[in-house]
Amino acid sequence: MKLSLLERLFILNPIRPLIQRHLEARQLHTLGGLLQGGKVLEIGCGPGSGIDLIFDVFGATTVHAFDLDHKMVARARRRQGRRNAAVQFWTGNARRIPIPDATYDAVFNFGALHHVVDWRAALAEVRRVLKPGGRFYCEEILAHYITHPFWGRLMTHPQMDRFDGVGFVAALKHKGFKVREVREMGDLYIWVIADKRR
Ligand SMILES: C[S@@+](CC[C@H](N)C(=O)[O-])C[C@H]1O[C@@H](n2cnc3c(N)ncnc32)[C@H](O)[C@@H]1O
Repeated sequence: MKLSLLERLFILNPIRPLIQRHLEARQLHTLGGLLQGGKVLEIGCGPGSGIDLIFDVFGATTVHAFDLDHKMVARARRRQGRRNAAVQFWTGNARRIPIPDATYDAVFNFGALHHVVDWRAALAEVRRVLKPGGRFYCEEILAHYITHPFWGRLMTHPQMDRFDGVGFVAALKHKGFKVREVREMGDLYIWVIADKRR
């Protein structure tokens, strides 16, 4: 599902990359450490600020990234222009990733899965494209906020079958991940590091 006007303003705001760097990526780095291999996918990349962090903080050598919204992909492409061959983009849905099995050393998700109606199918795709032992670095927003009678209405998100922390971790395990680290901030945010079982 594409973003509402309000969420677009939040995501495209110049403060957003600072929050992503100093809060979100820091948590993922603390929990999951540096990459063990250089080939990485970001799902739902938005305007592309996460890609800076995947290179600069986590040490990727190649990043593939996609988003459902072609305008976001265009923004991300412009932002990453200087990296040329090291980054590849497409417009697409996390529900079906057009990439062979076992391609990536790591997959990153900075808050895209709560927009995906069939998020469990997207998790299965993330697992499929990871190499055995590959790492999923995941930051997400939880059902308590998404379905909140006031806060939830400020943004446009799917409302059915949203996940809380326990449900999200259970779904990862069910899809064949070994969940290594979990940190929750209130009922709002979750950070998870999960590896594809070998
Ligand atoms: C909250 S924004 C986060 C963007 C970016 N990851 C960031 O942190 O700045 C969620 C992004 O997921 C994208 N998105 C929504 N549904 C998607 C889907 N099914 N597949 C891929 N991307 C999707 C939206 O277009 C949006 O850019």
